[in-house]
Amino acid sequence: MIICSCNFLSDRDVRQAVKTADDALRNAKQVYGRLGCSAECGRCAHTIRTIIDEAYRECALACQASRLHRPDHG
Ligand code: FES
Repeated sequence: MIICSCNFLSDRDVRQAVKTADDALRNAKQVYGRLGCSAECGRCAHTIRTIIDEAYRECALACQASRLHRPDHG
């Protein structure tokens, strides 16, 4: 789904950018930069922020789950 009509960015583009970035992307500006564009109207910034938060929450849960199942962590 297109979430940024100014830059034609999809939710998949944003998730992929967050997932593959060498450094953690913490805000919409960093996501725009990673995707080679910049904010135009800014209407999508909140949605991008939500996608970032969801991606890191999923990552944290996966990390926590893997630690719980490692034999050396009980
Ligand atoms: S909708 Fe993303 S900058 Fe305008």
